[in-house]
Amino acid sequence: MPILETQNLTYVYGEGTPFRIEALKNVNISIEKGELVGVIGHTGSGKSTLMQHLNGLLKPTSGKVLLGGEDIHASKEATRAARFRVGLCFQYPEYQLFESTVYKDIAFGPRNMGLNETEIRERVQRAAEFLEIRSDWMDKSPFDLSGGEKRRVAIAGVMAMQPEILILDEPTAGLDPRGRDRITDMICKYGLSTGSTVLVVSHSMDDVASFASRILVMDHGQNVLGGTVDEVFRQVDKLVSMGLDVPQLTKIFLRLQASGVSVRTDIYTLAQAKRELLRLFFEKGGTA
Ligand SMILES: Nc1ncnc2c1ncn2[C@@H]1O[C@H](COP(=O)(O)OP(=O)(O)OP(=O)(O)O)[C@@H](O)[C@H]1O
Ligand SMILES: [Mg+2]
Repeated sequence: MPILETQNLTYVYGEGTPFRIEALKNVNISIEKGELVGVIGHTGSGKSTLMQHLNGLLKPTSGKVLLGGEDIHASKEATRAARFRVGLCFQYPEYQLFESTVYKDIAFGPRNMGLNETEIRERVQRAAEFLEIRSDWMDKSPFDLSGGEKRRVAIAGVMAMQPEILILDEPTAGLDPRGRDRITDMICKYGLSTGSTVLVVSHSMDDVASFASRILVMDHGQNVLGGTVDEVFRQVDKLVSMGLDVPQLTKIFLRLQASGVSVRTDIYTLAQAKRELLRLFFEKGGTA
């Protein structure tokens, strides 16, 4: 059974007003436990609206969200439980830091769950390790940190709740390439070592290619494509027609093929590119 599922999920903003927008239209997605899912789509395609349904923050206009097979709006208790079982980290989460120290900020979620101090401390420590937050930051004000550091503290705050499903809405937005790679690696390590299910919304095809086991593509409020990294990025024309792209390395290999070089085009990461270039090199008689 999928851990998380939506059934004909539809959501309308501003119903009955001139600003009515159907942000989600009959969305059916199904996520298995332990998957690392990348969610992509043009701006305004409904990614954030969809993510906010998955922990019960928004209530469907029609359709359902099922967590472990149960409707998260079946009862008040089920909705409350969903808030803890599905941890959602918003776009630009650093704007929501407000405590006087980094420690208190990371501890805020676990404290809200009613845990004791020892357990809170352990969870803060564990989350801080995943985000490489140094122990000497713990007593600092989060406002004394850089933008990328603040982002890591905010993500740690959600991880410290140890949700079964972690959702990150554009965790690398606005960071430089090195900051982006770092956070992507940290999230990947977190998912693989805890076995948690992780959903990451991203505008960067390169980031998605580097961590996702599966990709969901949103377009105009609908889930139009889904599959493995291979299955999705193979459909270049479809992606381009939706204003999306493929990873930069894939583009290079597509160009090479178009210019007559016999190369694979299912290349999405640096490691795959290196392997394919070495294969070509040796095939053409190169020696090490
Ligand atoms: N609070 C709101 N009130 C009214 N309309 C909204 C609201 N939030 C989003 N929308 C509209 O709903 C649609 C989907 O928006 P959403 O923010 O879910 O898209 P997105 O894919 O997350 O976009 P982005 O990539 O820019 O973050 C858009 O047309 C948007 O203008
Ligand atoms: Mg968004």
